[in-house]
Amino acid sequence: MSSQNAIGVFDSGLGGLTAVKEFSRVLPNEKIIYFGDTGRVPYGTRSRDTIKKYSLQDAAFLLSHNVKMIVAACGTVSSVSGDLLEERLPVPYTGVVNPTAFAAANATKNGRIGVIGTAATVGSHSYKNRIKKLSPNAEVFEQACPLFVSLVENGIVRRDDQIARLVVIRYLSELKEKGVDTLILGCTHFPLLREAIGDFMGDGVTLIDSGSETAAYAAKVLGEQDLLTDDPVPKAPSFFVSDTPDGFEQVAGLFLGRGMEHSVTQIDIEQY
Ligand code: DGL
Repeated sequence: MSSQNAIGVFDSGLGGLTAVKEFSRVLPNEKIIYFGDTGRVPYGTRSRDTIKKYSLQDAAFLLSHNVKMIVAACGTVSSVSGDLLEERLPVPYTGVVNPTAFAAANATKNGRIGVIGTAATVGSHSYKNRIKKLSPNAEVFEQACPLFVSLVENGIVRRDDQIARLVVIRYLSELKEKGVDTLILGCTHFPLLREAIGDFMGDGVTLIDSGSETAAYAAKVLGEQDLLTDDPVPKAPSFFVSDTPDGFEQVAGLFLGRGMEHSVTQIDIEQY
C-alpha cells in the first residue's frame, strides 16, 4: 500500500461532506475520494441488513480506487456496520463512533452525555456502549432526531429559522432537562444545525462534532502506519454519487462551507 494513495470517505449522501471539510483542514495534502450514496439515502430508517449490504458496496467502490484507508463518515453506517467493515476491509478503517465517543468521554465534567442521531444509530446504542466502556460511570441519554436529516437536506439550517428552532425544541427538550453538559452530534448531517442546537442547549453544553473528531483520528492512524503522504502539494477531493449530480452540487456547498468547484461523477453502485 502506497502512502500516495487516496483516503476513501463515504456516507449515505451529503452528510459526510462535513467530514471532508475537516479532512481538507487537517490533511490538506491528502487526496480524498468521496462517495455519497445519494440514490439510496437515507440509510438511517432502513434495516440493519440493508445498511450492511449498502456499506459493503460503498467500501468496494472505494477499494476499486486503491484507497489506503476507508472512513465511514456516517453515524448510521458506523453504528450498524462498523464491526463488519473492520473485519472485512483490507485497509485501515474508521467510522465516526469511536473517535467521537472518546472525545465526549473526555469533554464531560458532570458525566452526563447526550447522543443524537438517526433512528438506526440510536437503536444500535453504539455511542452509549462505547462511552460506557471508556467511562463506566457516565450517564448517557439518547434521542433519535430523524427530521434533522430532512431539514439539512433541504437547507433549513439557519439559527433563526422558525421550523429549525421548533424541531430542535421538540427533540432536545428532554436532553436539556437531564442536565447533559456534552452532546454528541452523532450524525454527519447535524453539524449544519450546530448553531440552532447550541442556541437551545446553551453555552454550558459542549457539542461534539463527529466529522472533526474522525478526521483527527484518521490522521493519527495513518501516521502510526506510516501512510501519510509526503507530497507537499494540496489536493482537491474527487466526488462520486449514485444519483444525478445536480442535487448534490446544489446542497454540497452548505456542507463543505464553500462553493463546489469540483466535478461530481455519477456511478452505478449496484455493480459493486
Ligand atoms: N449520514 C447519516 C448519518 O450520519 C444520516 C442520513 C441517513 O439517514 O442516511 O447517520
